[in-house]
Amino acid sequence: MLRGAVRASAKAAEGAAAAAPAAAAGGGPGGLLRVGLGLAAGAGICYVTFGDEGRGSSAYHALFTGVVMRGLRLVDPETAHGIGIRAAQLAPADTDQDDPRLAVTIPEWGGATFSNPIGLAAGFDKQGEAMGPMLKAGFGFVEVGTVTPRPQPGNPKPRMFRLVEDRAVINRYGFNSDGADSVSERVAAFRAARTAGDAPSPPKGVAPLGPAAGGPIALPASASGDATVLLRDRVLSGMVGMNVGKNKTTEDAAEDYTIGVETFAPLADYLVVNVSSPNTPGLRDLQRRDQLKALLDAAVAARARAAARADPSGAWGGPPLLVKIAPDVTDSELDDMVAVSLSAGVDGIVVSNTTIDRPDTLRSEHRAEGGGLSGEPVRAKSTDVLRKAYALTRGRIPLVGVGGVSSGQHAYDKIRAGATLVQVYTALAYEGPPLVRRVKRELAALLERDGFASVQEAVGADVKPAEAPARA
Ligand SMILES: Cc1cc2nc3c(=O)[nH]c(=O)nc-3n(C[C@H](O)[C@H](O)[C@H](O)COP(=O)(O)O)c2cc1C
Repeated sequence: MLRGAVRASAKAAEGAAAAAPAAAAGGGPGGLLRVGLGLAAGAGICYVTFGDEGRGSSAYHALFTGVVMRGLRLVDPETAHGIGIRAAQLAPADTDQDDPRLAVTIPEWGGATFSNPIGLAAGFDKQGEAMGPMLKAGFGFVEVGTVTPRPQPGNPKPRMFRLVEDRAVINRYGFNSDGADSVSERVAAFRAARTAGDAPSPPKGVAPLGPAAGGPIALPASASGDATVLLRDRVLSGMVGMNVGKNKTTEDAAEDYTIGVETFAPLADYLVVNVSSPNTPGLRDLQRRDQLKALLDAAVAARARAAARADPSGAWGGPPLLVKIAPDVTDSELDDMVAVSLSAGVDGIVVSNTTIDRPDTLRSEHRAEGGGLSGEPVRAKSTDVLRKAYALTRGRIPLVGVGGVSSGQHAYDKIRAGATLVQVYTALAYEGPPLVRRVKRELAALLERDGFASVQEAVGADVKPAEAPARA
């Protein structure tokens, strides 16, 4: 009976999906109003009537991609971003089991297991408000932040621009942050709810994350076939990383990163030290050899202090600590950054943040806006730096590939260039959460086509034998 009802709703949603773009194309306030009402009604009916199962239906995904996302493009990008966060509960859910090929276990991170390697990059959920819905959308992990120690408003608006013709975005948000206290309260509440309240009986084998469990341990979602159970398991087993930065006016950067690391170490499945946003004056200078060494040493020490406080037995050393770098680096700068990261004892590198380049190929009217460029135009450059970082790290620490991923092929390219995990942001701004299911499906098919039984087997496959890592 429920299936029949879902099918009926699917028909209604498909009807709405077909009609609303036409209404939008009609333009004018009347058209906009009709689109808005259509979106709200379609999403609301599916959500209220069918809950998780309705939001997992193909029709609901089609409604989102074809209507909601197109409707959102009619409002300015920062408002659309805000609506996306506020209405995250309505986001399409992924009620398909993740292909077992997609599961990734990282021995260097205490055996942390990701049910799939596709994550939400930092910058979408800056304030820790949409972790659950984004995990339900099918991401294997979500990176919250960048969070600064004290609240700050960021740069004046407008500060985010769509470059539609280029499938890109330019942003100069400048770390608008609610601050570490507020965000840590939200993350702590989320963790408490998922291990105790909303999910009273974790599926067998899934331990609560964090110090109590001796580090992050999770298993892929359960195989019961029940949408509600599967989505609960996605939230239980999904990883939440915390990305930390500095306040604009702070002189001693290390102090701010220390606060971020100490605040979030007990709450995060991994931490990211972001030294690569182009929108905070002087931030990228922290990537220089000596400054980076001092900063990463301070961050690693802060993690050790936080871990010792959380677990006086000393059994837990804290979550993996990563550094996120820019794509705008010379080979010798990258050499330095990798050497310093390894010597400081960092557990991974996120490659990469947005670029300050403006390639000649850009066509959009917004191409000259200041800030960081993301999406399609950064992909090749970012993958190039990733490949070099893989050759340099020699496989000793996992890499997270991010920049311009909008398909399974792009994710696969990042993996073959050396990424163990992959993140997405800009493509999500265009396509919405249905993107996640598609990217995973395409990636699984590519792994199967090329005879890889797991993501791990494909990591670094494109790095030439001469530069291939000598695994420790
Ligand atoms: C609007 C916007 C805001 C972002 N904010 C952050 C941020 O706060 N911290 C961060 O480390 N990266 C931030 N990023 C960078 C993304 O995490 C990612 O590294 C970059 O956009 C490349 O990936 P993409 O092409 O899939 O978007 C932001 C990106 C965008 C588009």
